[in-house]
Amino acid sequence: MRWAVLVGGTGSNLRAILASGLPVHLVISNRMGVGALDIAREYGLEAVVITAKAFPDRARYDQELARTLGAHRIDAVAMAGFLRWLQPQTIQAYRGRILNLHPSLLPAYPGLHAIERAFSDGVLWTGVSVHFVDEGHDTGPLVAQAPVPRLPGDSLADLEARIHATEHRLYPRVLHAVDEGSAWLQDDGVHYKEEQP
Ligand code: GRF
Repeated sequence: MRWAVLVGGTGSNLRAILASGLPVHLVISNRMGVGALDIAREYGLEAVVITAKAFPDRARYDQELARTLGAHRIDAVAMAGFLRWLQPQTIQAYRGRILNLHPSLLPAYPGLHAIERAFSDGVLWTGVSVHFVDEGHDTGPLVAQAPVPRLPGDSLADLEARIHATEHRLYPRVLHAVDEGSAWLQDDGVHYKEEQP
């Protein structure tokens, strides 16, 4: 499959995905000047910036996103720090071929600042989730999760670092499973050829 990775931040997950050898053909960022774009360049990948302010509304934004994905013959999309909710038409067009990474054990802590909120609530365990994207916000069918402990004496930065390290291990594994057809979405949920990634 030809993958695109949608980014918007430092790009540490993009780096882990590229290092894993997933066939990535395009990087799309919703922000200019972010670290993820440098990583794309380092790997000689085509990187496109599509900022919200260049478009009058969300529908027009997603039209441009869909056009760009189509122009690069992209089959599957991995979201990794892209800070925009996709429109229903985009999600329908890529259903079962678009995945998102989230830094909590969903359905706990959906949305922004998931790590900070879990930390300030004093949870002893949080984690990482990978799910197929649906029309809701961080609600799609889960493909894999990994728990992460908050250890005694942890600062927020310690917990963030542990979560990001877990993301870097889990997300490429899940994307390869989808790429190889050993994890897939059907109408009744997520299926696995063998075990969960
Ligand atoms: C990750 O924590 C991911 O879970 C969230 O955005 C962050 C992206 O980080 N969706 P990076 O840009 O990959 O370093």
